[in-house]
Amino acid sequence: MNLNKVVFREEDRFLYVWRLILSLVSLYYAFRLPLVLVRKSSYPAFFIVDIMAAFVFLVDIFVQSRTAIKREGKFITDIKSLSKDYFSSSRFFIDLIAALPLDVFLIWTTHLSFFAPLALLRLLKLLRLKDNLEYMATVKFNPALFRLLLMVLWIILAAHSIACGWLAISGIDSSDSFSYQYLRAIYWTITTLTTIGYGDITPSSPALIMYTILIELIGAAMYGLIIGSIANLISKMDTAKIMHREKVEKINAFLSYKHISPELQKKIRDYFDYLWDTRRGHAEESVLTEIPHSLKLAVALEIHKDVIQKVPLFKDANDDFIRDIILHLQSYIVSPGDYIIRAGEIGLDMFFINRGSVEVVSADESVRYAVLSEGQFFGEMALVLQAPRTATVRSLEYCDLYRLDKGTFDNILIRYPDVASQIEMLAQQRKAEIDKKK
Ligand code: CMP
Repeated sequence: MNLNKVVFREEDRFLYVWRLILSLVSLYYAFRLPLVLVRKSSYPAFFIVDIMAAFVFLVDIFVQSRTAIKREGKFITDIKSLSKDYFSSSRFFIDLIAALPLDVFLIWTTHLSFFAPLALLRLLKLLRLKDNLEYMATVKFNPALFRLLLMVLWIILAAHSIACGWLAISGIDSSDSFSYQYLRAIYWTITTLTTIGYGDITPSSPALIMYTILIELIGAAMYGLIIGSIANLISKMDTAKIMHREKVEKINAFLSYKHISPELQKKIRDYFDYLWDTRRGHAEESVLTEIPHSLKLAVALEIHKDVIQKVPLFKDANDDFIRDIILHLQSYIVSPGDYIIRAGEIGLDMFFINRGSVEVVSADESVRYAVLSEGQFFGEMALVLQAPRTATVRSLEYCDLYRLDKGTFDNILIRYPDVASQIEMLAQQRKAEIDKKK
């Protein structure tokens, strides 16, 4: 691999892994540095980890200067302009300062001199933690859940830093174990921040009193804010479900007000349950109308890929045919027992079955001609034979159908004679069967 030519792109797996490593190293420093500074010593085993972590921040400067950036919707991948952009930005200065291996010198070589707190400059990298975590979470995470977890992480980090601050000011008591003192400091932080304040650990020097006042003020200001945002985030966690429930409640209220029979009300409620279970409450077309025209086809192909795979007529057809038909398919849901077609009516559309099954019966419903299920279609005869509907079609269960209007159907028959002849053949066969059973 020629490093001179490497450019990292958003979708690269490497970038994903790299940002994960970077986030872990930033968190490592956020927890470790305050502890080391308070304790004024470190376990020798951490030396290797510190060196590796320092190396990660240095390498990140290279990665950042070679990561493709988006400008006006276009990815810039030209190495020169990428480097120029990065090295002249404030991001670079932050990365550079955070990458200075001050901690290695200050912690490991000088036995924590007066300048040791300078090592905290490493924590500047935390400014990028949110972006890095966000990048990794974009696709797989519910955004509200992600924000909630991020907030919890910030609270933990803040509590850790405040506890370390308390220990730094109060000093470490060498007669007690460090972990016990840290635990007490965390306990003090939480009781103070949450304004519970039991008062069993009290400040014993002017500096500690001032520190306590400061943390109390921060706690009072932040507590309400944090609780409020957590409640808000939790309520937003499942916005789609909440919106759906509100819609159903509104409809229920209307139905009761209009004294619609309880059976029909139940049927409508069941319909909305089905809508939620199968497409998260959205009618597919309403989603498609929101999407820009240029992307509609691609989205429609994805949304309707089930039906394309199930209906043999589509599966074997060429791409042009699919493209022509796909945007005209309208999702059509029917409840069990619904009449979809009635014998004798004028036919204005045909239907493809994506899920569920229907029965085809005679006009007086005394003869059952067929049961049709996934992948089959019906309603084509009236369109092909230019005649009234030959039979009644009724759903046997919840059915996911796709409706195709007569106009589109006629255009397609003209453009695709192969498909037309398949449909015509089936229509003739079905007609013969009906005639036989008459
Ligand atoms: P159409 O006449 O438009 O409306 C009723 C539909 O029932 C008809 O189109 C066919 O698609 C379908 N149909 C009629 N007879 C049969 C049959 N014997 N087998 C399967 N489907 C049928």
